[in-house]
Amino acid sequence: MTMKGRESGMPEEAYWASFFEPEVIIDRLLGTAVPGDVIEFGCGYGSFTVPTARRTTGRVIALDIEPEMVDCVRQKALAFDLPNIQADVRDFVAQGTGVDSESQAHAMIFNLLHLEHPVALLREAYRILQDGGALSVLHWRSDIPTPRGPSLAIRPTPEQCRRWMTGAGFHTIESVDLQDCCPFHFGLLARR
Ligand SMILES: C[S@@+](CC[C@H](N)C(=O)[O-])C[C@H]1O[C@@H](n2cnc3c(N)ncnc32)[C@H](O)[C@@H]1O
Repeated sequence: MTMKGRESGMPEEAYWASFFEPEVIIDRLLGTAVPGDVIEFGCGYGSFTVPTARRTTGRVIALDIEPEMVDCVRQKALAFDLPNIQADVRDFVAQGTGVDSESQAHAMIFNLLHLEHPVALLREAYRILQDGGALSVLHWRSDIPTPRGPSLAIRPTPEQCRRWMTGAGFHTIESVDLQDCCPFHFGLLARR
C-alpha cells in the first residue's frame, strides 16, 4: 500500500511556479553556498531542487512517490547540467528514505507537512541529518487567503510546525522572513 500524503498532489507546473521565487527562497533557507549533501522530501517538479543543486558541491537527493515528478526532475538535472541531483521514486512515509543516518547537511520539507504523520517524517529527517545539520520547512500560510494549498482544517500554522519539530528533536527553530518573495508561505529553519 502506498502512503502518499493527503492533499499532496500537484497542479499544472506553470501555475505552481507562479507562487514562488525559488532562487530567493533557497538563498534565505539554505544560503548561497550549501555545505554538503541535501535531501528533499517530496520534490514535485523540482522547483526547489534545481536552485539547491546549484548552491552545493554535494549531492541533492530528491525523493517523490510520483514517477512523473521524478522524471521531470531528472530531465531538469540534464537540461541544467546538474549531475549532483539524484532523483528517486520512493514512498518515504511507508519505506523511510533509505538514506544513511547522520549523513545529510540539510533536509527540506516544502509544502508537505500537512500529511498524516508529520512527526514521523520529521523524525526520519532528524535521523539522516548530521549533528548540527539544518532542516528547512516551507508551507502555505493559513492566516491570509491563499490561491492554493491544503484545506485549512489540515494546514499547520508555524506554531504547530514548531511543536512538531521540537517533538522530533530539533532545536534553535527560527522563522525566516519570506514576505517579499513568497507572500503566501512561511519558512522555518531548525538545527538537529
Ligand atoms: C504539494 S507537492 C510539493 C512539491 C515540492 N516540495 C514543492 O514545494 O514544490 C508534495 C509532493 O510530495 C509528494 N509525496 C506525497 N506523499 C509522498 C510520500 N509518501 N512519499 C514520497 N513523496 C510523497 C507528492 O507526490 C508531491 O509531489
